[in-house]
Amino acid sequence: MCSVFGYIGKQYSRQLVMEGLSRLEYRGYDSAGFACLDPQSNHIVYSKASGDLQHLKDKLNQQSIDGYVSLGHTRWATHGGFSADNAHPHFDCEKNIALIHNGIIENHQELREELRAAGHVFHSETDTEVVAHLFEQELGRRDLSIELCSEIFSRLQGAYAFAIILEQYTNTMIVARKRSPLCVGVGKDELFVSSDPLAFIDKTRDVLFMPDESFALLSPSGIALYSFNGQSLSIATSSLDFSFEQQDKQQHEHFMLKEIYEQKAAIKNTLTHLQALSADLLWKQLGLKNEQVKDVEKITLLGCGTSWFAGRIAQFFFEEIAHISTQVSVASEFRYMSFFPRSNTLCIAITQSGETADTLEALRVVQSYGVHTIGLTNVASSTIVRETQGSLFTQAGCEVAVASTKAFVTQLTALYWLAHRLAMEKGLIELSDMQAAEQNLLIAAEALEECIEQNKLRIMQELAPYYATYKQYIFLGRHIGYPLAMEAALKLKEITYIFAQAYPAGELKHGPLALIDAQIPVVVFSHQAHIIYHKLVANVQEVKARDGHVIAFAFEGQQELISLADTVFIIPHVAPLLEPIAMIGLMQFFVYQMALVLDRPIDKPRNLAKSVTVE
Ligand code: M6R
Repeated sequence: MCSVFGYIGKQYSRQLVMEGLSRLEYRGYDSAGFACLDPQSNHIVYSKASGDLQHLKDKLNQQSIDGYVSLGHTRWATHGGFSADNAHPHFDCEKNIALIHNGIIENHQELREELRAAGHVFHSETDTEVVAHLFEQELGRRDLSIELCSEIFSRLQGAYAFAIILEQYTNTMIVARKRSPLCVGVGKDELFVSSDPLAFIDKTRDVLFMPDESFALLSPSGIALYSFNGQSLSIATSSLDFSFEQQDKQQHEHFMLKEIYEQKAAIKNTLTHLQALSADLLWKQLGLKNEQVKDVEKITLLGCGTSWFAGRIAQFFFEEIAHISTQVSVASEFRYMSFFPRSNTLCIAITQSGETADTLEALRVVQSYGVHTIGLTNVASSTIVRETQGSLFTQAGCEVAVASTKAFVTQLTALYWLAHRLAMEKGLIELSDMQAAEQNLLIAAEALEECIEQNKLRIMQELAPYYATYKQYIFLGRHIGYPLAMEAALKLKEITYIFAQAYPAGELKHGPLALIDAQIPVVVFSHQAHIIYHKLVANVQEVKARDGHVIAFAFEGQQELISLADTVFIIPHVAPLLEPIAMIGLMQFFVYQMALVLDRPIDKPRNLAKSVTVE
């Protein structure tokens, strides 16, 4: 997604803007730009380049532009293709105003027509550019004021974080936020503006997270903050206590591989962190009172992509372990659906980054019903933590690869653990059951790693080169194995670009069976429960009867499935409901090796970003 970074202060800032943008690399981008007020001429000077940040850096190395008031941006295209013209900053007709934006202006078309009719000339296909012309239009009639900003921002529909500089007001930067994340780092006689405090955390720890629907006029000596209706707001800064850690791949070829191998430790770290929470501390951190905990009637889980699949698996945890009716919704669809909360409903939004716009929007809808919300995230400084009444943290460590691996298993760990804590609070299980559950998580983590180790060479030398030649795949599972199949299919699509579709195995005969032939391998995730296993075997028989090719993830001793499959991976037994943890590492490794054979850019697949901050 787009990254916004700005600086106003007493230093030449190009270098620090570039450094800030590099740290926001996880948001993905297709072009980048830099603009500043030239201290001698007070004119806006700029540079833009298509491609990754290095292209912009190379271009800037040939130029001498720098200044005390500057903007930097990386773009992830929404409106208009990847090109230097569409890269930010965008300008008014005279290039007296420069601005950068993250988000989408939904009514840009209407504004563009209005501004064109008034004589403005546009230079890009972006939705963003209209805002520069809107400022130009209004500043042609009157001076910069609170009312002017308030009027302009109130006209913009959609989601946005803006930083704007103007030749006419060399000591001012305008910033604004609606829905999209934006924060201001407060230094001594200098301010840093960013989509994520990570970009400036080594310069200052004092951060103002811009309230939703607010704008501010920044100068080196301070911040004047206003709501969109023009009311002055007090400045409440937070002091952050994390540091930027340069991530490196260690001995691995890709971050994804490193992160696959870190899963066992990530599960253990998450568990240790959770175990350290006393009951009082846990419920307090979740924003719950003890009586509320016992009476939870319904749980709503929200998430996107892999986090949604973690929710789909966790539904079985909450229903089977804690006996709480659980609904799981993909967050990007939630706002179009009816929602029927019961009097004591809990909503848990699952998001590795804590910044996914779809998840945050769904959460806001849930909150409008007065429902208690909890964010399950890996990033303690993220937006979700500020917007929910309670938080639970996974301890996956920084996940760099776009394809989520260790974040997923730590989400499962935290949700499995929480289901047991709720069950204990409700008197359904004893402390000894809780302890056994914790032990079982560690055993499943061990199985995850063991499965990779045992199949590693076979996958690298034989299976990955062979299976990378297929053009499409079907994934099957039943019960908890179905969301696991969905997650596996997503991973394959994301990093190999091979088409894959997951089905509940019982659905095969209702249509997809028509697809079966030798050209479309069927990947089956087995289950330890006999009744489910036998039904799965029947589904595999149906595939084999039609010349299908089967890859099975079978548990030890599941002889019938083992002999039916063309390729089989044997998984050690783990506690019920922990099958996905035992199997997913091996699947990730298999898919990773296929992507390697296909020479894909594994850590940054085309068109994708790590943090998806637009709807
Ligand atoms: O940060 P989040 O967990 O909210 O991200 C949600 C999805 O965008 C994310 O899981 C995505 O599907 C991954 N690239 C999957 O590997």
